[in-house]
Amino acid sequence: MVVETVAVAIWAMLPAYIPNNVAVLAGGGRPIDGGRTLDDGNRLLGDGKTWRGTAFGTAAGVVVALVLNRIHPFVSGVVVADPFPIAAAVSLAFGAMLGDILASFLKRRTGRQRGAVFPGVDQLDFVVVSLVLTAVIATGWFLDTFTLPVVVAVLVLTPLLHVSTNAIAYAVGLKDEPW
Ligand code: CTP
Ligand code: MG
Repeated sequence: MVVETVAVAIWAMLPAYIPNNVAVLAGGGRPIDGGRTLDDGNRLLGDGKTWRGTAFGTAAGVVVALVLNRIHPFVSGVVVADPFPIAAAVSLAFGAMLGDILASFLKRRTGRQRGAVFPGVDQLDFVVVSLVLTAVIATGWFLDTFTLPVVVAVLVLTPLLHVSTNAIAYAVGLKDEPW
């Protein structure tokens, strides 16, 4: 069923969708790269990747997973996914932050300044890293949850959700660019 597949995809990815948005709200302070610049003259990561944003983003994703586990008994008719083991909660949330950080590393190495658009990478960086990390750290739960149709749904839906939430965040003044 398409509805069930989409429901599982969104449910299982919520702990990975939340962190980047919370980082936008909570970010600031000391950058992870400590201001370091590499030989190419560009920052290692840039001022857009901070310890505070990463910590709050990761924590928020884990909290979301724990809340979803509480709601789980009431929606198990629609969302046929097993509750998040704590390992999966952490790897989904932290993996999302890590993917975004790696994308910034790539942006700086390709000469893109902070806030520059990087089509494709911007939309899927966090999904790929959070899925790969979860496959490694919570393998059993990952294989039960992310069947091939669910993975396809995630890869199709994520760019759409990402583009629309960022456009909204930009429109209400939370983000400096609409991507
Ligand atoms: N943010 C943060 N820590 C992170 C990720 C994001 O503090 N690990 C905050 C920063 O304030 C950042 C904002 O969220 O400016 C928007 O995030 P993002 O678009 O990922 O960063 P950019 O500033 O656009 O920088 P980059 O070009 O490196 O993506
Ligand atoms: Mg950006």
